[in-house]
Amino acid sequence: MIADDFKTLRSRFPVLGHKTYLNSGSYCALADSVKAAINNYMDDRLLVGANWDVWVMKNEAVRSLMAQVLSAQADEIAVTASASAGINSLASSLDFTQRRNKVVISDFEFPTNAQIWHAQELRGARVVHVPRAADGYIPLENFEKAIDEETQLVAVTHVCFRNGAKLDIPGIVKLAHARGAKVMLDCYQAVGAMTIDVKQLDVDFAVGGLLKYLLGTAGLGFLYARQELISSLTPTQTGWFAQENVAAMDITANRPSSTARRFEAGTPAVVNCYAAEAGLKIILEVGTDIIEERVQYLTRLYMDRLEEIGWPSITPRQDGRHGPMVCIRAKQVAQLFGKLTQQDIVTSFRDDNLRATFHFYNNEQDVDTLIQALLAHRAEYL
Ligand SMILES: Cc1ncc(COP(=O)(O)O)c(C=O)c1O
Repeated sequence: MIADDFKTLRSRFPVLGHKTYLNSGSYCALADSVKAAINNYMDDRLLVGANWDVWVMKNEAVRSLMAQVLSAQADEIAVTASASAGINSLASSLDFTQRRNKVVISDFEFPTNAQIWHAQELRGARVVHVPRAADGYIPLENFEKAIDEETQLVAVTHVCFRNGAKLDIPGIVKLAHARGAKVMLDCYQAVGAMTIDVKQLDVDFAVGGLLKYLLGTAGLGFLYARQELISSLTPTQTGWFAQENVAAMDITANRPSSTARRFEAGTPAVVNCYAAEAGLKIILEVGTDIIEERVQYLTRLYMDRLEEIGWPSITPRQDGRHGPMVCIRAKQVAQLFGKLTQQDIVTSFRDDNLRATFHFYNNEQDVDTLIQALLAHRAEYL
């Protein structure tokens, strides 16, 4: 793709016309077509009332597009209300009363992917945290020490929401499978900004949501479950939309769908499906390989410029060790964030880290604007 194509794409995200928007890891910029899709839903509500036939198809469209993004089959995708809902449903289908009752997570997890597994302690699970090394990264050997013959599941993030570091997922998967454990990947901080091929990565489950790099809106997530595993897992957290025949309205038994739909629950979040369908279409139109290449170019450029101004990133620089997020450590980071916001530079922060997150619609000017602002604030906050 050439620079002009990115310029045209950029013009489809109005917020970029008046803000330096480096916050897609929190919530994406809104595309014109996503807004139009939400308006279509509102028109449907006003003119048709309850258009269920179309609405159910919107949910199926999200399933099918999400499968394309992940290189999975549509039957391997559950469309959920959030990443948390997907993890909860999966957790409810696991048996922790056997010897293999260990769940291995890491120091890099988003809270929900720790809290839900700790909640399973009431059901017999043992949760083990893989710690970071002195340099702040979590090397494969730390996972090697934690994953053993008693491990049922390794549930890990792809990219850390606190510091932008990317874990060695192929290495972790190989290790886990060799020891008989399954792997659940939380790819929320990566999917849409990088190519995530669940078959190539060989993960057993993957979760994420639609509001960040997938360009949709809050209130929608997904769970990928490997085809061969689905029939052996029966979620106890369920509902009528998880049944084999939703229309049966049977109150005598739980008959879960034979597909990953068994990890769903109640009425689909229809308006969010309209938005998600439009967002996913943009991602597939541009292509995840092209997006990844562009995001890598921008993150490298930002890291190089940070070096130049003497404020190096704490996110690992090596290729393969970071995703779309680059963090710097700052004194009184909330204050720095506030000053940048006043300058129409949208970032976010966690711990002492100022996070800048990049998508294909960002450009060199965005990097430069942030660098110039940091240069001006350096004496006070570095
Ligand atoms: C890596 C990661 N996992 C999980 C979540 C939580 O997702 P949800 O609110 O859809 O449950 C987030 C949200 O920011 C996240 O960044």
